[in-house]
Order: sequence, then C-alpha cells, then structure tokens
Amino acid sequence: MTPRLRVVVLISGCGTNLQAIMDAVAGGLLPVDLRAVVCNEPGAPGIARAREAGYETVVVDHRDFSARERFDATLAEAVDAFDPELVVLAGFMRILTPGFVRRYAGRLINVHPSLLPDFPGLETHARAIAAGARVHGATVHFVTEDLDGGPIIVQARVPVLAADAPGALAARVLAQEHVILPLAIRWFAQRRIEVDGDRVLLDGLPVRSRPALSLPE
Ligand code: GAR
Repeated sequence: MTPRLRVVVLISGCGTNLQAIMDAVAGGLLPVDLRAVVCNEPGAPGIARAREAGYETVVVDHRDFSARERFDATLAEAVDAFDPELVVLAGFMRILTPGFVRRYAGRLINVHPSLLPDFPGLETHARAIAAGARVHGATVHFVTEDLDGGPIIVQARVPVLAADAPGALAARVLAQEHVILPLAIRWFAQRRIEVDGDRVLLDGLPVRSRPALSLPE
C-alpha cells in the first residue's frame, strides 16, 4: 500500500476548514497522514479543535518576531519538522514571504473566500455584495508569490441573494469551503492534479469551476 500523504495544516483562527479536513480523515474520505497543525495565534479556537481530535499542534506567534522573514523562517522550521508533502493554508491570515512560498512550491495550497481572480485579499463577502455580484464563492489554489493569484485547483459557486448581509453570505461560502478544501487535498493525495503553467489539470484535463460539490463516498 502506498504510504499516506504527509500533510501539515496552517491556521490562524476558528479552524472550521481544519475541522472539515479532520472530519474527512476520520470518516475515511481523505487518505492523508495529518502530521500537525501549526498556528500563529496562541488563542485560536482551531488549536483546541486539533488537540481535541488528538493532533499535534505547534504555535509560532508572529508577534514574537520583529521581521516577517524571521517569523517565516521559524514557521518553516516548525513545518519541516513534520516533513510534509503538502502544506495547507486553512484560514492562515499572514502574508508569506517569497522565500517561504518558494520553499513549498507546488505543495502549498490555500482556501480563499471568493471566486478568484475576483476579490483577492480581505472582506471578500462585503466587497462582492457592494459590487453587485450575483455569484460569489470559494477557491482552492496553489500558492505562488502572487497574492491569491496562483493556479486554481477548484472553485465552488454560491448565489448572492437580494437581501444578503456579508455574514449570511460568508456562512454559505464557508460551507462550500468545507467541501472543496478536503476535495482538493484528496485529489492531491491521489496524485490526480498537476500544475500546467498557470492552470491545474485534474486527471490530465483542466478543472472547471462547478456548482456545489460533495466529497465522494
Ligand atoms: C475562511 O473563510 C478562509 O477562506 C479565510 O479565512 C476563513 C477561515 O475560517 N481565509 C482567508 O481569507 C485567507 N486569505 P476557518 O478558520 O473557520 O477555517
């Protein structure tokens, strides 16, 4: 049997995407070895989730570092201690230095709460509503030095409703993140995705954006 893909997840906050990953692993839907959860916020609820599920956790508080490069070097040391084949940013809210991104090129993915390339950065839901978007959503993509600009693995689309407040829209988008992030990790673990220039191929074909997805049984 091929050994399970070694994965490290980086979080900053609530950790609901991490929870979706842990649930998929526990449910036998995600054939990976989740080696550790690394977090930059000592009080993040996601750390308690990871501990409760029995996973190793490491906190690297960015406030302990005067320069971004020093923080990223220590972060990389913490990550490398678990020898990951894939590093997943699941609500990790620090901008990473080019050196960090290059170190994990091709094995660093991120979930972002918009249909990239629309609405990179923060406050994506309020911005989508303000822009009059009819459709919004979430994206899982490879991380490159271009912030929120790397090759897209998968997207899920969510309608924007007439009376939507940012919080309500965010909740519907988050529910889709919980589907597409484990799905992208599963594809990666199954070695079904490859980067071809600025796009991603799944089973040798371009991945299209699609409506609501569910993790296969
Ligand atoms: C998620 O919506 C994720 O897409 C977003 O933070 C939230 C984390 O939620 N990430 C970014 O905005 C990264 N730029 P969670 O901690 O409950 O998974």
